[in-house]
Amino acid sequence: MAEEFSLTEMNRADPANMTDMMRKHTPVLDVPDEVKAGVPFAIALKVGGIEGVEHPNLLGHWINWVDLYAGDRLLGRTEFAPVVSHPETTLHIALDESATLRAVAYCNLHGVWEATKAVAAR
Ligand SMILES: [Fe+2]
Repeated sequence: MAEEFSLTEMNRADPANMTDMMRKHTPVLDVPDEVKAGVPFAIALKVGGIEGVEHPNLLGHWINWVDLYAGDRLLGRTEFAPVVSHPETTLHIALDESATLRAVAYCNLHGVWEATKAVAAR
């Protein structure tokens, strides 16, 4: 990525070349690698804070929302007001089959940011 971020394309962190822009915008999915099919489990979602680099949450610049998908299917959206000091949430879901979970966060100044995590359901 030539620019630090895009306002029109999906932004993704480059693990080999993490910038502070990536550290504070990238969603973090705390989820097991493997779950039991059909049995609910917790997904802790937060945005930013990687290596201690937190995103500001101020009037005029904040994480507006984070969505959780299984593949292309939207499972849930959490919206935040700028007074929320740490944009994080926990969802409980059950998977009938293995899936790639995707978290997509939106910063009003720096666009949409995605992180993915494969979860095996057995
Ligand atoms: Fe931002």
